Amino acid sequence: MLNVTERKKVMITGGAGFIGSNLIRLIIEELPNWEIVNFDALTYAGNLTSLAGLEENPQYRFVKGDVTDSKAVLDAMQGCWGVMHLAAESHVDRSILDASPFLKTNIIGTQVMLDAARSLGIQRFLQVSTDEVYGSLQPDAHPFTEDHHLKPNSPYAASKASADLLVRSYYKTYGLPVVISRCSNNYGPYQFPEKLIPLLISNALNDKPIPVYGDGMQVRDWIYVDDHNRGLLEVLEKGKPGEIYNLGGKHELPNLMLIKHLLDLLGKSESLITFVKDRPGHDRRYAMDWSKTERELGWCPKFDFEEGSRRTVDWYMNNTKWVNQVTSGSYRDYYELQYGAR
Ligand code: NAD
Ligand code: TYD
Repeated sequence: MLNVTERKKVMITGGAGFIGSNLIRLIIEELPNWEIVNFDALTYAGNLTSLAGLEENPQYRFVKGDVTDSKAVLDAMQGCWGVMHLAAESHVDRSILDASPFLKTNIIGTQVMLDAARSLGIQRFLQVSTDEVYGSLQPDAHPFTEDHHLKPNSPYAASKASADLLVRSYYKTYGLPVVISRCSNNYGPYQFPEKLIPLLISNALNDKPIPVYGDGMQVRDWIYVDDHNRGLLEVLEKGKPGEIYNLGGKHELPNLMLIKHLLDLLGKSESLITFVKDRPGHDRRYAMDWSKTERELGWCPKFDFEEGSRRTVDWYMNNTKWVNQVTSGSYRDYYELQYGAR
């Protein structure tokens, strides 16, 4: 259970992105004594329309800034009890096209955040990480535990693994009270339509082809975004400094099965499915063992996939304006580069 009475000021980086905007809405709804500073550079993936309605909320303040800018970070972090560090370049396909923004934001940005947290005596620093740092699993292998080796296969995953190691080093070297969460693939409202689920829904609604990489039998463990965010709050509040906590959705599914399920919910034909050239270095399977998090923090995912996917599809069907807004402009160039000649 979350402690809802204590007053806390928390800096959330990347709060205008998919997970961050859902996290901020959850905190505003359930933790009335928390004050939030949302620090975000508003890249293509950050959209203040995802937080519409919160502008005047006294619990909430937005600061536009880059996590690699140490002065801006220090200013925004003043007076905070804790930090939830979500800001990142997050899309594997983009990291394959160009790794440099990933190294800059995900590694250097994390170092800047850690230095600021150290100099201000931050009491809890949460590094929000991913299952992708562990690499790929064999079909019959046990899901990833927190002790699994780090074998990242994409520049994105390598940049997150590097950041995680840096975070660990600040605990060991300086005693900074850090915690690391690693979660599986999220889905839900406000996800930018370059990731599989929102791309699929928005293409299907427009009767456009659904690009399936390779044979479509890659397995992901899907978690509804609110379950992830409740896990992040538990890890922040109750996690032991220096420890890593896995979070997962208890729902492993091959991409093709996922796509067919969603097309069925949308009432669209499977003839939209179009097999395209595989992603280089494509991880075959991710799966999480989150028994440590359940045992130590009492967390487990609450949404089953049926309900989560229904909610997600409904949300995208009712929010085509949001999709159109965030995909105007540079997204069209990216789409052409990514899928045009595939
Ligand atoms: P996202 O791409 O939707 O959002 C990222 C946010 O970070 C955006 O608002 C963007 O403007 C901001 N940002 C990017 N570069 C920045 C910079 N230099 N300075 C300040 N802000 C910057 O990402 P997401 O899916 O919401 O993921 C959030 C975090 O969770 C990431 O750290 C990601 O690695 C991690 N994660 C994501 C998933 C998933 O399935 N989406 C799973 C596990 C972990
Ligand atoms: P994605 O949403 O990019 O997440 P991640 O690569 O971080 O797991 O992709 C999820 C899965 O869907 C992954 O196996 C790649 C696959 N995929 C496609 O088949 N087609 C697509 O157009 C996209 C974006 C992803």
